[in-house]
Amino acid sequence: ACSRLVLGIETSCDDTGAAVLDETGAILGESLHSQKEVHLRSGGIIPTVAQQLHKEHIARVVQEAMDRSGVSPRQLSAVATTVKPGLALSLGIGLKFSLEFVRHHNKPFIPIHHMEAHALTVRMLQPVAFPFLVLLISGGHSLLAVARGVSDFLLLGQTLDEAPGDTLDKVARRLSLLKHPHCSTLSGGQAIEHLAKEGDRSKFPFRTPMGQNYDCDFSFAGLRNQVTMTIMKKETEEGIEQGSLLSCVNDIAAATQHAVAAHLAKRTHRAILFCKAKGLLPACSPTLVVSGGVASNQYIRKALAIITEATGVNLLCPPAKFCTDNGVMIAWNGVERLREGTGILPHNVDVSYEPK
Ligand code: KG4
Ligand code: ZN
Repeated sequence: ACSRLVLGIETSCDDTGAAVLDETGAILGESLHSQKEVHLRSGGIIPTVAQQLHKEHIARVVQEAMDRSGVSPRQLSAVATTVKPGLALSLGIGLKFSLEFVRHHNKPFIPIHHMEAHALTVRMLQPVAFPFLVLLISGGHSLLAVARGVSDFLLLGQTLDEAPGDTLDKVARRLSLLKHPHCSTLSGGQAIEHLAKEGDRSKFPFRTPMGQNYDCDFSFAGLRNQVTMTIMKKETEEGIEQGSLLSCVNDIAAATQHAVAAHLAKRTHRAILFCKAKGLLPACSPTLVVSGGVASNQYIRKALAIITEATGVNLLCPPAKFCTDNGVMIAWNGVERLREGTGILPHNVDVSYEPK
């Protein structure tokens, strides 16, 4: 039997990714070009720089994924591409490339919602039936939703200000962790997880955000403000200038990581209780899927495991490689759409097609 083949393309943020999958979710070929190093050095993503790097690498990345798969464009059943949400300039490069590709090769085009793709990736790795609860935590997003179908998500809560990965990155930058001998190549979140291992979180009892908000939303800006104030106070006490390493970086890292973990766990707990009360999840063995770059944090996973164990929920965290942005998750979402037969556009879709 000939399985349908999908090319997936991702350019929503700072990763140029492409992958070719068959209908069973087997990865036939993939390629990923990360801009993380560049953005780490400049202290954040500059959209025009990200756009330029996508432009420089997209053709090669797609070609590599195709070459490694041994699949010719003729054999593809469809091309799936992230069209939202993300940086408009970055998304534009993937969209333009894809529309030219499908037009040239006469292939159907499947526009993909980046967060839905993150949520569905787990189904490529193991059978997980709808509905399930999903927590997405990355540098750009923070949300809780019930996945009821391939393109049917019930949003329960999202961040009111910034995403947890963004908070960790900003705190790491404020602590000048790139100057730390063990952290010079790590993302902010990784650096904080690493330093927290040797830290005492009880030295800085930061308040967990939104204690009085009876919903499932998130907020991290207030926490970041607490952490920044503490850093400033410590710099004065230690008589050092901003940009130098504090002697208590480990303790601050541990306390920040704990507050982020506690907040994520509390809001997720609320969401589980809400779903149970409303019958939104199966009564028997409901599942929580956690994905996004921040999900690779072991301390945060443990905090979530305490909540899921207490509520009888099955906790699934895909391996880190599948939690971060890549072409694979986009191709998989394309496979899911093909199977369902929804959201598939013709090859000659208007090139002025604007993601909504
Ligand atoms: O999903 P991702 O690769 O990109 C998007 O933001 O879409 O996530 C990157 C984010 C960064 O903010 C990074 O600091 C955070 O995930 N991160 C972590 C860890 N590894 C990456 N945060 C906490 N602990 C980690 N181990
Ligand atoms: Zn992402």
